[in-house]
Amino acid sequence: MRYTPDQTREFNRLTGHFLEAAVVQNHRATEELRNVIRFHEWRYYVLDDPLISDFDYDRLYKLLERTEAAYPEWASEESPTRRVSSDLTESFATVDHLSPMLSLENSYDLADLEAFDLRVRKLCGLAANEALDYFAEPKFDGGSIAVIYENDCLVRAATRGDGARGEEITANARTIRSLPLRAAFSSLGIFRVELRGEAVLSKQRFHAINLQRETDGLPLFANPRNAATGVLRAKDPSETAARNLDAFIFQVSHAEAQNGHTQLDAFPTQASWMEQLDALGFKVALADRKVCKSIKAVEDFVGQWTSRRDAYFYDIDGVVVKVNDLSMQQRCGSTAHHPRWAVAHKFQARQSSSTLLGVEFQIGKIGSITPVAKIAPVQLAGVTVSSVSLHNEDFIAQRDIRIGDQVLVERAGDVIPYIVKAFPELRKGDEKPIAFPSHCPACNTPLVREEDEAAWRCPNDRCEGKRLQCMIHHASKDAMDIDGLGKSLIERFYDLGWLADLSDLYSLDYEAIAALEGMGKKSAENLRRSIEKAKDNPLYRLLHGLCIHHIGKKIAQRIAAQVEYLPDLAQWDAERFMAIDDVGPVAAGNLVRFFANPHNQQMLRRMEELGVNLRAKDDDHPQASGSGGIFHGKTILFTGTLERMGRDEAERLAEKLGARVLSAVSSKLDLLVVGRDAGSKLAKAQKLGTVEILDEQAFFDRAGSQ
Ligand code: IVH
Repeated sequence: MRYTPDQTREFNRLTGHFLEAAVVQNHRATEELRNVIRFHEWRYYVLDDPLISDFDYDRLYKLLERTEAAYPEWASEESPTRRVSSDLTESFATVDHLSPMLSLENSYDLADLEAFDLRVRKLCGLAANEALDYFAEPKFDGGSIAVIYENDCLVRAATRGDGARGEEITANARTIRSLPLRAAFSSLGIFRVELRGEAVLSKQRFHAINLQRETDGLPLFANPRNAATGVLRAKDPSETAARNLDAFIFQVSHAEAQNGHTQLDAFPTQASWMEQLDALGFKVALADRKVCKSIKAVEDFVGQWTSRRDAYFYDIDGVVVKVNDLSMQQRCGSTAHHPRWAVAHKFQARQSSSTLLGVEFQIGKIGSITPVAKIAPVQLAGVTVSSVSLHNEDFIAQRDIRIGDQVLVERAGDVIPYIVKAFPELRKGDEKPIAFPSHCPACNTPLVREEDEAAWRCPNDRCEGKRLQCMIHHASKDAMDIDGLGKSLIERFYDLGWLADLSDLYSLDYEAIAALEGMGKKSAENLRRSIEKAKDNPLYRLLHGLCIHHIGKKIAQRIAAQVEYLPDLAQWDAERFMAIDDVGPVAAGNLVRFFANPHNQQMLRRMEELGVNLRAKDDDHPQASGSGGIFHGKTILFTGTLERMGRDEAERLAEKLGARVLSAVSSKLDLLVVGRDAGSKLAKAQKLGTVEILDEQAFFDRAGSQ
């Protein structure tokens, strides 16, 4: 069935209601909850366009399970809890699985994992101190498949369907190159075998496909899973072939000898089966899995994958933990829904829906106007999010986002949260378009938008809003790194009329500061010390802190390496600036204008009088790069959080070994080093496909091999 817009809105309302409910009141409400779950299953499995996160879906599902267990008289044979979710349609022949294709129980935190361990131990009759090995590996996010080999040949492939019966997709599965068409099971005495696995699409392929679809004006896929599951059931196998799917195998569900005897115990453990399948030519996550000696070791493994997932070639949404010993698995058995010997530990949700309450327009340090969405607070990967950048006018227009809309918000890795899309089908009619201002919210000057720029900007050099933001940037960690002089203190000084331009930051009246409420002598003295210390900074920090459009830290460093005394830059013409790497005509023009401006010259003179260093220091002249260094001639970029050393330090090390550090991912980039929670830079590098991606360990291994 399809759902009407009215029904969609009603189910959305009921979803919110049930997510807040601890219990379900009566029989009628239980049936209502079942309908809500059926609706979300349809959105997820049929439309490939879920309205809620997997996490919220699981909460609804568990609420229903609890209710049906507590009140069997309210249960129903047709309940979503009585079957595994189905992807059956009428276009394919339906076939029986050799054994039911079950789902997995989910775990969301360490307490769930420990409870799983206790349950398993009880079922296996093991005491807490007895050895029990777990087999742990990534949980691939794609479409489940079951493949049968007979006489060493792939004879049938099917989707999961309702768990008992699936859709026959042999012709499509044969196009998946990582699925061997022949495999020597007979060498193991096996005549027929059924394998379970996941058809997936690599992130790199997914980005390339979406790029092409964008060019062709086709709707984009939301994620690799949607791009994989859809084409798995394509009517024309050449469509499946063109998408380049991969298939990971993670379970042997049936194995029999010629005489009909089961051979499932041919290998004693999950790990040994996987090694055998690897030897037979199947794609198994051999390098990415681990046999863990205890649930604590599983927890460590989960922790590693929480950081590693972004750098991984495939989308994964958790870690699957299985009892390694197959005889122990048998002792545990299964429910109608899931095996008791396995659990899927899900990573924290990164997407959630919320309501767009309003939009604020913020001015930046160079005058760009950024629309910021205020949303009803949501939890994303452990952080409460209530403000989300909408980037620019085009971003809003492309997504047709309106105030009052239900929106899908995502926060992945170190990427700042963003709005993936709005749900127009949930509109009630009173949503309002977002009106972009025509004048600066701070100084009311008409905004301008240059041809090749996405942002509207305030062109007024003396705009108060812009100036305040520039001061905040100037003192920030990235620029002058003035400890203790953060946004709120600068705003306070600014409101008191103490800050007309940047040089005023270096002539503050510390007695007046000590007298401010909440400050006192000690805080004022600390602040004075940090400011005095900053006066002695290397030149590139000051240059970066001047808020010249297009002059980031990297370019500031390159300029500082070529000038002795900052005011000398007033003599440079655009050509000379453009001789520096990554300085284009626009940046060069901005630099020339900045240093020719008498106000700015005067401001720099005053800074110098107040003791601020305007001369290049040792730090501004990195030692001539080791031309024999291991990274000689390579460009490199670091992203995400490094564990072993700060990013600055790692960059210096790379430079010492001959690399040139870039500030953005482009076709010029050779190496990307990926730390914890890497985000958009990694995605972009994967999309490009020409960048070598190293994790932190690999980088230090190479650096250390010098
Ligand atoms: S083991 C009884 N291992 O997750 C099922 N499943 O949510 C044994 N999945 O239907 C499955 N990666 O399609 C297993 N490494 C992995 C997996 C995995 C993805 C899928 C599988 C299953 C679903 C359950």
